[in-house]
Amino acid sequence: MTKYLVIGDPICHSRSPGMQNAAFEAHGLGRPYGIRHVTPAELPDFFEYARKNLSGVNLTVPHKLQAAVLSDELTSRAAECGSVNTLIISDGHILGDSTDGVGLERALEYCFSESLAGKRILFCGAGGAARATAVHFTHCGVQEISFINRTVAKAGELVDLCHRVDPEITAVCCSPQDTDSVKELLSRADYLIQATSLGLKSDDPPPFPLEWLTSGMKLKIFDTIYHPTPLQKHAASLGIKCCGGKEMLIQQGAESFRLWTGLDAPLDEMRKGFDTGVPGQ
Ligand code: ATR
Repeated sequence: MTKYLVIGDPICHSRSPGMQNAAFEAHGLGRPYGIRHVTPAELPDFFEYARKNLSGVNLTVPHKLQAAVLSDELTSRAAECGSVNTLIISDGHILGDSTDGVGLERALEYCFSESLAGKRILFCGAGGAARATAVHFTHCGVQEISFINRTVAKAGELVDLCHRVDPEITAVCCSPQDTDSVKELLSRADYLIQATSLGLKSDDPPPFPLEWLTSGMKLKIFDTIYHPTPLQKHAASLGIKCCGGKEMLIQQGAESFRLWTGLDAPLDEMRKGFDTGVPGQ
């Protein structure tokens, strides 16, 4: 019986069922995780369905902000970033949480084998993904969080948000056209997080001019897009360490699994389920 769902619009590409059902099966709990296409207009009714029928939900684009409004209660980390990707449902009560930040933190540690303490993090993008993860990073002992985004005002809002959470943190932003500032931010960053939606579609332009990258740069790149993109290939050709977004999806899903079940998340099984699962099933 389906007790858990991933919802989004679109959702047919999702690998969450393969990944989550692998975790449930590893604990002898069957395959209780399904998938459903839900539009933004349908989200309020979906919450009432979920309240009565489900134990947990993962939400993806474009529902994360509206879900924060519709939840009965938010965890402190979801309230801080105003974004919800996980519903924990018990006795008709819906608790909204955000596991994206911890998912990216653990993915960086897994991919690059080092802690975030003292690091300078540069985000390319200032949408939902950047918001949920940047706010989390203010709690990870990082030295600086900066943003480059086409719409600079949105990057400015994230700078303000980071400062509200931690008034001591260094947070700055700039336009991609401000080449001097871009160069300065790139030269001092330890990590560049590619957090725009560009790369999802095969005909997308790169998220920034690839000439920004040069061999010998010390930064490492994490691209939140999980299939190989021109950016990832270009970085590899320059000898820059670069990781695609799969591990972030694994780690945010693992955190959701722990929250729902109280059980250890079997990460290797989840990675296998992600790789072998049929998207959308
Ligand atoms: P998500 O929840 O996946 O982060 P989002 O909130 O819509 O999605 O954010 C998309 C991000 O990709 C934003 O940073 C957006 O830039 P703007 O804030 O200027 O809109 C960025 N993005 C999307 N298409 C882009 C494009 N063609 N060029 C540059 N940036 C783009």
